[in-house]
Amino acid sequence: MDTSVKNLIVEKIKSSKIGQVDFDNLPFGDVFTDHMMVCDYKNGSWGTPKIIPYQPLTLDPSARVFHYGQAVFEGMKAYKDDKGQAWLFRPDENFRRINKSCVRLAIPEFPEEYFFDSLKTLLRLDVEWIKPGEGNTLYVRPFVIATQPGVIAAPSEEYKFMIICSPAKSYYGGEVRVKIAEKFSRAADGGFGFAKAAGNYAGQFYPTKLAKEEGFQQIVWTDSSTHEYIEEAGTMNVFVRIGDKLLTCPTSDRILDGVTRKSVIALARDQGIEVEIRPIKVAELLDATKNNTLKEMFGSGTAAVINPIQGFGYKGDKYELPKVENSYASRFKKQLTDIQYNRSEDKYGWRY
Ligand code: COI
Repeated sequence: MDTSVKNLIVEKIKSSKIGQVDFDNLPFGDVFTDHMMVCDYKNGSWGTPKIIPYQPLTLDPSARVFHYGQAVFEGMKAYKDDKGQAWLFRPDENFRRINKSCVRLAIPEFPEEYFFDSLKTLLRLDVEWIKPGEGNTLYVRPFVIATQPGVIAAPSEEYKFMIICSPAKSYYGGEVRVKIAEKFSRAADGGFGFAKAAGNYAGQFYPTKLAKEEGFQQIVWTDSSTHEYIEEAGTMNVFVRIGDKLLTCPTSDRILDGVTRKSVIALARDQGIEVEIRPIKVAELLDATKNNTLKEMFGSGTAAVINPIQGFGYKGDKYELPKVENSYASRFKKQLTDIQYNRSEDKYGWRY
């Protein structure tokens, strides 16, 4: 145990359930490790973080989270290299972002030392759950929920900050085709689309269900006022390659500031690829399809990593993307995973 860990209570499980897990057949986010972290906020401050056996919670049915959706979360991954050393990828970015989300949802910010001390202790306890080898990861899910009883529509004065971990392989099993939103919106100016708030995801489920019935796996959201510009997909930021240029839309009130997104931008620019961060019109995609300059589309995200988009649907028409050699998607996926699994030099200092 790291002796620098202060303010932490650790209660270990009596016997691990790891032996019951089929690590070769893991649906995303279904199985959880032996331990979890819980820290309660009460009387104006965060209490002592605790690492305890993974278990259900008991909450008052009137807890604010159930009624007003005061909840935020993060997604990060731990990787194991060939020597058995475990790594996180840019966790400082996730820490910064969860507090940004907290502020927007009127949730008190979480102390940095509590976050990192408890995260490291939790991962050390459950380190056997991080399997080595390409594609094996431990998905780490920090989240905060409003626990104060009472259905008054006001910010809770009590919260739980928790971290749970789930061994995971890929998020999408097969090919991904997306529907470009024409009517529904994910987020609006002045709203909280930039935050990893639970409600941002709940609001996507119904339109995504309709899109799935049409054969798409995800929606690429468009701006809420004109529906003329693409924004982000349900679980990923979106990149488009037109000719040799890489395009992605700027982050804003409406768009999540993705950690994988900013890593791809840095990698691309370093390799001399021209990256344009600007609003992208759906019409531009359609034109590029017609004149064969639309080479690739892909999504980026912690869960999704880099996921090629094979096709898209818009206003009843379906468009397929060409198969390209030396695709940017495969290149960035390899470069990112080489850093994540400690197979390459980390000149950016992203490994932790
Ligand atoms: C992630 O990529 O970590 C996300 O939060 C997406 C999630 C909805 C699976």
